[in-house]
Amino acid sequence: MNLVLIGPPGSGKGTQASRVAQACAVPHISTGDILRRAVAGGSMLGDAVRDSMSRGELVSDEIITDLVAERLADLHATTGFVLDGFPRTIEQAYALDVLMEERGHLAVVELNVPDEELVRRLASRRTAEGRADDDEEVVRERLAVYHRSTLPVIEFYRMRRTLLSVNGDLPPEQVTERITLAVDPVFDKYFDRIAGPIE
Ligand code: AP5
Repeated sequence: MNLVLIGPPGSGKGTQASRVAQACAVPHISTGDILRRAVAGGSMLGDAVRDSMSRGELVSDEIITDLVAERLADLHATTGFVLDGFPRTIEQAYALDVLMEERGHLAVVELNVPDEELVRRLASRRTAEGRADDDEEVVRERLAVYHRSTLPVIEFYRMRRTLLSVNGDLPPEQVTERITLAVDPVFDKYFDRIAGPIE
């Protein structure tokens, strides 16, 4: 199970990556979570990315690619993973190609959610959890960055016929079910394991 979840801010990448990773017993690698921990811990990495993150901009391809390369290097070549938040530029997609050499098939699932629902979810998380980049103005910038830098990545995988599109505008358990159905032909040997715990 080598799976990438792509989608705009608030589309449910983190929620779904966590559910699928747990069901398949593979690591969930979230670049956003790793960076937020680094910022909270005051590490050098945190200092380097704090400003870009608070403005809703992407951190540099070099930083993020090194970070993902490090995480994948810690995994055995046959251990699968669910990646959430990477790649989000064409340069990162090329870097992932290199990292995937001898790691088997990669499935890419795109979560589709209308903009008004994204804005509603992020505003409600802002109130509930106080995540700084859920501020209305920063959310606008994150959406603009997604359109500018990440939509080309979706096209890149669509052209390669690796892209699976899933409706993310449904209750979380139904989205998980659709992801597992979408990847079933790709990862059929995992299907029983996925279907079990998620019910
Ligand atoms: P990251 O943490 O990846 O932020 P994001 O892409 O903006 O995504 P979110 O975490 O806001 O949303 P999500 O799609 O994961 O949805 P979630 O499950 O949380 O990145 C943060 C920042 O780090 C970036 O802006 C950038 O600066 C930097 N960064 C990270 N990766 C990078 C990279 N590769 N390159 C460069 N920079 C990078 O759900 C959102 C909310 O909706 C939650 O409250 C959830 O409970 C709710 N929800 C989820 N699913 C549903 C549902 N089905 N129905 C109703 N509510 C739902």
